[in-house]
Order: sequence, then C-alpha cells, then structure tokens
Amino acid sequence: MSVETGGGPADGVVSEGSAGVRAAGRRRHVLDLDDFTRDEIAAVIDKTRAMKEVLHRDIKKAPALRGKTIVTMFYEPSTRTRVSFEQAGKVLSADVINVTGGGSSVEKGESLYNTALTIQAMSADVIVIRHPHSGAPHFLASRLGSSIINAGDGSHAHPTQALLDLFTIHSHTGSIEGLRVVIVGDLLHSRVARSNMWGLVRMGARVALCAPPTLIPSDFRDGSLRRPCHPFAGVEVETSIERALEGADVVMALRLQLERQRAGHIPSLREYSRTYGISGSRLKLARPGALVMHPGPMNEGVEIEPDVAHGARSVIEEQVTNGVALRMALLHSLAAQDRFEA
Ligand code: CP
Repeated sequence: MSVETGGGPADGVVSEGSAGVRAAGRRRHVLDLDDFTRDEIAAVIDKTRAMKEVLHRDIKKAPALRGKTIVTMFYEPSTRTRVSFEQAGKVLSADVINVTGGGSSVEKGESLYNTALTIQAMSADVIVIRHPHSGAPHFLASRLGSSIINAGDGSHAHPTQALLDLFTIHSHTGSIEGLRVVIVGDLLHSRVARSNMWGLVRMGARVALCAPPTLIPSDFRDGSLRRPCHPFAGVEVETSIERALEGADVVMALRLQLERQRAGHIPSLREYSRTYGISGSRLKLARPGALVMHPGPMNEGVEIEPDVAHGARSVIEEQVTNGVALRMALLHSLAAQDRFEA
C-alpha cells in the first residue's frame, strides 16, 4: 500500500510561523495545528489509517525508518504520549532514545538549548519534546537542524493529541464537516483544547466550548477571538453544560488540571463534578450514538463519571490505540524521504 504524505499548503489560509515548519514544500516540524491545511490533515488521517493496519499484523514491524534516530525529551510527566512515540518509532524500525529531565545533565543546570544541541550532535533525525514552558518546541525548531515534534508545551498546544482525536472522530463518522463537537472542562489550561480547536475548525466542525466562567480563557471572554475574520469567530462559548450538550455529535471531556491551578478557579471538586461532570443523564442530551472522548489521564468522578468513561459510547481507549498509529504517520512523514510502503 502506498500513501501520499501530504505536501505543502493547499488552501492558503495557514500561518507559517517563524520556525520554518516547511522546507522545499515538505513539512519539517509539527508544532501546532494552526499551520496545517485541511488537505494536510486529510492526508495525515489517510496515512494513520495505513499505519493502523501495520499494528493489526501478527508481526508489528515495518522497515520504513531503519537507520533513523528519534529522541524523546520529556520534561513533564506522560504515559500515553511518551510510550506511543516510543512504540511508533520502534514499529517503524527507528532507533528510539528517551531523555527525561531527571537523571540527565538538566539536573546539573544544562539549558534546554544546550541539551537539545547535544542530542542533535548525536544525529537525531526527529526530536519529540514535552516541556512545561509554552513555546519551547518552537524555540528548538528555529535553532536546530533536526525535525521537532511538540508533544505538549505548557498550556499552549498538543498537536499530536488533536490529530489523533481528529482521526478517531473521522474513523467513526467518515467526515468531520458539520459535526457539533462540544469540548467541556478546564479550557483555561488545556493545550489539547487549543490544538483541537484549530484542527476541528479547519475540518469544518461546529465547535462549542463549555466551562465555568473562571475556566474560560480571557481571549474568549474579552472578545478578541470573536472578530469576524478570526478562525475561531464561529466557536460557541457556553457556561451551561445542558445547553452545550444539546445535539452534540461528539463530547470531549477535559481533565481538570489541578497541578496548573494556582488560583481558586472552582469552589470544590464536588461542586465542579455536580455542575460540569459528564454523567449518563447529561449524555442523554447529546445525539443518540454521540462519541465520548477524553485525552487522558482522567479524573474519574470529577470531569467524567466512570460509567460514561467506560460505557458504550466511549472511544477513550481507542484514542490511545490510534495515538500510536498517528505518531507512526507523523514520524514517517518527517523522517523518511519516501512514500510509505507497508
Ligand atoms: N493525553 C496525554 O497527553 O496523556 P499523557 O500526559 O499521558 O501523555
């Protein structure tokens, strides 16, 4: 099977940013979804489908990235993203090296730039980075020769999560155009929500955000994202979960990020769960068969009830499986110079 890797911009409405995300028509970095065209997202979805077939084989191995080196640098905790990048690289036969803040020379005070420069000097083709500071992946992309993938930076972006979410929705619905996708929860701190909004809006979904006023980002509250020319101008913002869920095709619950909440944004976990938790009775307001998603890790009993998280409409475990295939697709696009022959 051969799959197009998706080339340069096709619809001309994306920003290229300062980090040189493309060179000679090919994507070099994955920093956020704001510079992905609709055609490119569609190509990633097609390629992820081909990669998923490899994962269903008895022997889950393809030689596509033999001789390539992928380094993961995680400066924040992660299970799904780190492990899936490692698995994705290994299934495609790349050498995968994992670096964490603890146990590396970061503990001796080495800067992010010098650490990354050292990694690059060891011939890393792709560096996958998760960092607590927004913009850390962009900083490396503008200075290093290796391809950079953002595996989550601060509260800013988590593009690979958003792409696997788009793939998961598409695999159930066949098209994202026109779907009502409701994102509920801690929008203020959610890099997943921001990246998903770029991808969903570009693919033609009708996006609704729902949170208590204290967890809605100020740029939505002060109207700066509501200007008619802004891509998010059509995004609905709701504080009533009942109104938001009405007619939803997809319900995406977000983790309440207690570790990032310095101020008292909510009265109590119990109050939050009572007012914004996704329960079975609330889910009845959505369309029959609506998909329930969560990027993980979940606070079960807070933003989502266990019977919903593990219920018939939940695709949460599928999101994790799809994460491996999606990351295989991205690693192949960045590191291989050829088409994927599975
Ligand atoms: N969704 C997500 O980023 O999960 P991890 O923090 O486990 O990687």
